[in-house]
Parts: sequence; C-alpha cells; structure tokens
Amino acid sequence: MSAEAGPLRFVRGDFQDLEEYVPVKPLDVLAREIGVPAGQLVKLDANENLYGVIPEVREAIASAPLHIYPDPGQGALREAIAEYAGVTPGQVVAGAGADDLIDVIIRLAGPGTIVTATPTFGMYGFLAKIAGARVVESPRGANFEPGLAAIERAVDGGARVVFLASPNNPTGNLLSRAEVERLCRMDALVVIDEAYIEFSGDSAAPLLDEHSNLVILRTFSKWAGLAGLRVGYSLSHPDLARLMMGIKQPYNVSVAADAAARAALEHRAQIFETVRCIVAERERMAGLVGALGWMTPLPSCANFVLFEVKGRSAAGVAASLRRRGVLVRYYDRPDLQNYIRISAGRPEDTDRLLAALRAVEAE
Ligand SMILES: Cc1ncc(COP(=O)(O)O)c(C=O)c1O
Repeated sequence: MSAEAGPLRFVRGDFQDLEEYVPVKPLDVLAREIGVPAGQLVKLDANENLYGVIPEVREAIASAPLHIYPDPGQGALREAIAEYAGVTPGQVVAGAGADDLIDVIIRLAGPGTIVTATPTFGMYGFLAKIAGARVVESPRGANFEPGLAAIERAVDGGARVVFLASPNNPTGNLLSRAEVERLCRMDALVVIDEAYIEFSGDSAAPLLDEHSNLVILRTFSKWAGLAGLRVGYSLSHPDLARLMMGIKQPYNVSVAADAAARAALEHRAQIFETVRCIVAERERMAGLVGALGWMTPLPSCANFVLFEVKGRSAAGVAASLRRRGVLVRYYDRPDLQNYIRISAGRPEDTDRLLAALRAVEAE
C-alpha cells in the first residue's frame, strides 16, 4: 500500500524519515540473542547502578497503594526532592525520568530552535525533532568542551533552549561554573542536565536564585538504581515550574515510582555508599583498561568512562565483548570516531570486563 493511500496519509510526513532513537535492549532479549543466562551478563552499556535497589526502596514499592491514581500535584515527592536539592517545592517538577522533563521543556518553549553541544545525549535532538523544533548541533572542541561562542551565535539567531549535560554523556566532562554562568547570561532557557551529578557533586543549583532562565534536570536512574521505574525531576524558577506542572501529563509519575523515589531520598546515606564504590570502581576500571595499552581513558566525573580505541575497531571490540556476555556501548561516527563507553559497575563486573578484554586481545 502506498503512503498516499494508507493510514500514513493522516500523520506528519516528516516522521516517515525520522532517525530512530536506538534504545538499549531488555536483559531477557539480550540473554536470548547472546545465548547466556541473563544473570551472567555484565551490563556496562547504559550507566545503570549495578548494585540494584536497596531493600527499603523495594518495601516502599510493595506497600504503595498501586490501585489509586498518583498525585498529579506530586506534593510529597516535590517536598522530599526540594529538601534534598536545597530549593523550594515550588521549584521542583517530577517526571517519568529526566527524559519526560526534556519533552515538557521542549513543548513549553514551543516550535523554534534548540541548541545542543555534540557529542552528547541523543534525547534532546530526538525529542526536539518529534516536537517539530529545529536542532542546532554545535560541535564540541578537542577536549569535548562546548563551544560557547557558537552557542551564543545560535541564541542570537533565535534559538530558545540550550541543552547541555554536566557531566556530559558520553564524554564524562563537567561544565565549569564560569561556563554555566556565561550560558545563563544568554537570552534563552538554559537547561543543565545533571543526570550524573551524584558522581561528581558539582551542581549549578546555587545559580538558580540569580538566573531565572536556568533549568536543572536530575534523575533517580543513575545514583539510586531506579532506571526501570522512571523518575527524574527539574529545578527551576517557580514560574517555569508552575507552567511545566500545568502542561505535563497529570499522572506522569507512577505511584510505585513516587514511593520508590521518596524512599531512596530517605535512605540516601545507604545508597551513597554504592555511589562511592562506583566512583572508586570507575577509577580502577579506567586504570586497568588503560593499562592494556590500546584503549585510552578520558577523565570522567560520571559513572562511566569513554575510551578512545587505538589500532582496533571499536565496533569489533564491542561485538567480541558481547559474545562473551559483556555489554558496552561503542561509537563510530564523525564526531566520535572509534570510541567505547563503559559503565562503572561492581569490582566483579570490572574483573569480568578485564578478562573479556584480554580474551579479545588474544583473538
Ligand atoms: C545526560 C542524560 N540525561 C538524561 C538521561 C535519562 O535519564 P532518565 O532515565 O531519568 O530519563 C540520561 C540517560 O542515559 C543521560 O545520560
């Protein structure tokens, strides 16, 4: 059936050649494809917390009133997040992951142009295109620092929203305070995505009082191990937060996610012990993998390390590791040629990674 005759004639034409967002595959699918039990996979491809969920969070989910709709006003959750982040509840909006808030912000700004600094997290560009916004991808410099002058030019040219991750995914580097301040002086909404902030501890939140155009995004997916439940949040000027609350899907945070996020905050000291272990493991993993001599680690402030692969194909190495049950993410594109990103896991995950890399080396 041709597109003119079929049901696609009722939908937006540009969706037919939209570049798909390539998501990670579920564990059971991967296990089946690779032919190993799911429990034996070493999943270092999506920056999850491999220590998993603490028992107190599981109990909170088990006793949550799942037959009742969630609170659209997110009262208790916004209060708990505000206490954690050092802001007022009126500055907080929670969502189904930080991704949900990226979508809300793009819709809030309306059709227009958004700017990102590539390589970076793909969701900004993907969701902007779905919303019908134009995306300016400003290339990062030699050390993956964003080109602020080019971003300024894009804003002067009418861009309304700037998305920058700090630490950036997949490069792991932070924005300096001076860079964030320069961004905040631009005439646009400036969204600093702090999905990995718990691994670096350097937040732009203290600038919220001074800059009403600053929006900070955070998530429970990385530090708290709740990627599968989908909870994230934004911190912003209360006027922006009020409008975001007004246009988000009313029940965007499920009762289970709400209960889990509040329990994670209540028991955060316990979870931060795993965060400290992951940071230590990041350094150990970078050192051991780097010592092989053909993968050069970039300094990272997040829960992953980006490696430049020398003398071998990153795609080939990732495929060989995958056959051995070790999952990593590779990049081979103009702005990131022959790189592999590896999440920091537990010591035993690093050990399995190393053994698999040595086997790849001997192939
Ligand atoms: C920079 C960045 N922002 C946001 C997200 C997504 O967060 P969430 O799981 O809360 O949607 C990720 C996940 O990889 C990320 O790397």
